[in-house]
Amino acid sequence: MIFHKLSLVFPLLCLCFTSLLTRVDSTQPPFSCDPSNPSTETFPFCKTTLPISQRARDLVSRLTLDEKISQLVNSAPAIPRLGIPAYEWWSEALHGVAGVGKGIFFNGTIRGATSFPQVILTAASFDSYLWYRIGQAIGLEARALYNAGQAIGMTFWAPNINIFRDPRWGRGQETPGEDPLVTGKYAVSYVRGVQGDTFNGGKLKGKLQASACCKHFTAYDLDNWKGTTRYKFDARVTMQDLADTYQPPFESCVKQGRASGIMCAYNRVNGIPSCADRNLLSKTARRQWGFHGYITSDCDAVSIIHDAQGYAKSPEDAVVDVLKAGMDVNCGSFLQKHTKAAVKQKKLPESEIDRALHNLFSVRMRLGLFNGNPTTQPFGKIGADVVCSPAHQVLALQAAQDGIVLLKNSHGLLPLPKSKSVSLALIGPNANSAKTLLGNYAGPSCRSITPLQALQNYVENTVYYPGCDTVACSSASIDKAVDIAKGADHVVLMMGLDQTQEKEELDRVDLVLPGRQQELITRVAEAAKKPVILVLLCGGPVDITFAKYDRNIGSILWAGYPGEAGAVALAEVIFGDHNPGEFTVIAVEMQ
Ligand SMILES: *[C@@H]1O[C@H](CO)[C@@H](O)[C@H](O)[C@H]1NC(C)=O
Repeated sequence: MIFHKLSLVFPLLCLCFTSLLTRVDSTQPPFSCDPSNPSTETFPFCKTTLPISQRARDLVSRLTLDEKISQLVNSAPAIPRLGIPAYEWWSEALHGVAGVGKGIFFNGTIRGATSFPQVILTAASFDSYLWYRIGQAIGLEARALYNAGQAIGMTFWAPNINIFRDPRWGRGQETPGEDPLVTGKYAVSYVRGVQGDTFNGGKLKGKLQASACCKHFTAYDLDNWKGTTRYKFDARVTMQDLADTYQPPFESCVKQGRASGIMCAYNRVNGIPSCADRNLLSKTARRQWGFHGYITSDCDAVSIIHDAQGYAKSPEDAVVDVLKAGMDVNCGSFLQKHTKAAVKQKKLPESEIDRALHNLFSVRMRLGLFNGNPTTQPFGKIGADVVCSPAHQVLALQAAQDGIVLLKNSHGLLPLPKSKSVSLALIGPNANSAKTLLGNYAGPSCRSITPLQALQNYVENTVYYPGCDTVACSSASIDKAVDIAKGADHVVLMMGLDQTQEKEELDRVDLVLPGRQQELITRVAEAAKKPVILVLLCGGPVDITFAKYDRNIGSILWAGYPGEAGAVALAEVIFGDHNPGEFTVIAVEMQ
């Protein structure tokens, strides 16, 4: 416990130094309508007293065709003559602000952000107020990065609210699971938190702390399965299944969450590429649900409409298809390359480009990026000290505690006694990696603690042995593992999956534990002095029927990918400092 408390103080000390540094190094965030630039700040689009739609219309009317086209891709260049800086639409914040997209840099005074548990684990808390507070923390940390001059975008491509219908899907870990209602509630909580609305739905007058994006619209749960890729996959979905299963989370995300972004998916639905589906983007999302944010393609999802799917006969036709459908920005460079030709060939009216740009600049304005110096505005006061703050570290720990599930506990095996004289054998390929705990779309995190380190905090006499060569476990040293298990009072097996087994562009073909993992578990359990504890790190489900019925396996814990505080949470559960059957009770503030 001492270590745990110290580790909370440590980031606090570091942040004192970073905020001192921030004051010395006055890195400015990029913004438009600079009052010290009199040639640009008098434009009507800079007048904060005018409605945003009027300001956006004014801005778009001042652009040349080439300037307009330049703004239709994720890396939008600066327009210096109008005092408009470059903007990056692509940033990621699935379970914490991540350095995965192109809009956030961790190369300044801020070197990491709070890495909450992977979403499938957080969802297992069934606690929408927890989800909201995580969203809030992410939005705050995002704004702090922008204020510190380490962001050129405030649009985050999360949450992933696709229904995890096929348990082999490599990206199921990113989602709240297979239930449309739970997924919808997750979406609403996360989006309100990130964007700065209250938990109960109170609005920040259309302003955005940061922008969230409901993705991937729609019916996407296949990445790469036996040679079929998401780029070519055509999901055949009945209208009833679409209405009952796949669409409700998106409808909630837009209507109650008031998300300012949507991403259309790579896959086709009933033959039509999602980004070219006018019925989906314009009729359903915008008109039926009242969506008034921006719609981005998934990365290179426009080029595949022509190149991989052959749906559009020419590159220009693909441009026309997506812009007329209602998509606004292309992650990639396809629209930059082919839009001019589409206009010249009179296939695309310029008004379609203006429509898209109106949505794009409206979102940038709602983020407050066209209001002059942002440090003088409400969100401008969010300082670097919120990033990795003690409060956010505690929240990451609480999320891991409340998500971890006790699946089996025969004869009250858990919790183990906190006794100085016991010895512990920690066996398994997932026992000594802090990175595995984070899952995908993660990092850099504030802290890094492996399960081995966290358990050693409780039991000094802990012997660690991986047992398998890797998580794939094609080769296992079972006899050695058995010997180690025989010599210890208690055995914890840390098994399951990692990103080599399930990830973007990699689906599984079955649900069993990889390679020789099951054999290792069974042999070790048989040899151990007492029934063993099996811990599973995995996003997608694994079939552990064998362990359920094995009397030598006393306890089973499912820990998803529990984030940067996950190892501490696991150790607390194993040694009784947290009861996985109890929620941490936090009074809901009625805002
Ligand atoms: C951080 O990285 C970005 C993007 O690569 C770069 O533009 C910027 O200059 C870097 N900043 C520092 C302080 O190195």
